[in-house]
Amino acid sequence: MAILEVLEYPHPILKQKAEKVTQIDDALRKTLDDMLETMYDDAGCGLAAPQVGILKRMVVIDIAHEDEEPAPMFLINPEIIWRSEERVCGEEGCLSVPDMRAEVERFAKVRLRYLDRDGHEQELLAEDFLAIAVQHELDHLDGILYIDRISRLKRQMLLKKLEKSRKDKGAE
Ligand code: NI
Repeated sequence: MAILEVLEYPHPILKQKAEKVTQIDDALRKTLDDMLETMYDDAGCGLAAPQVGILKRMVVIDIAHEDEEPAPMFLINPEIIWRSEERVCGEEGCLSVPDMRAEVERFAKVRLRYLDRDGHEQELLAEDFLAIAVQHELDHLDGILYIDRISRLKRQMLLKKLEKSRKDKGAE
């Protein structure tokens, strides 16, 4: 496995829509494994292919706690087929917007259909934190970052903080 470079805001690839996966083979599974390793290396709980410069509709998620066994999920061509009326607000962060967090409103539950890493069709009802992670990662496949889903004022403040944190890091 290999650690891939994570693209950061405002990289133009992060704004693009990813293409459907048409072939699930060993090369694709290798990329998924690399994505998973990259995500673990950055202590993230989700990573979408466009974040590592691959415009394909695939995502890895692992929401297990540090003291639990890893529980990786591989979602290929995922589609949300049902959304709850109930919404929730939770704090989100993103490996492409390092060190920042903001409250984002999401559907409390979503049902999704996807292909697993063997190419089998699966359905999943995602609730709680998993529902948020799924919506966040699927947004990446459509070129949407969580900062696109907060108010303009909050986004401006967050981007200012991001810029400052990058300068501070550069000065270290
Ligand atoms: Ni993200």
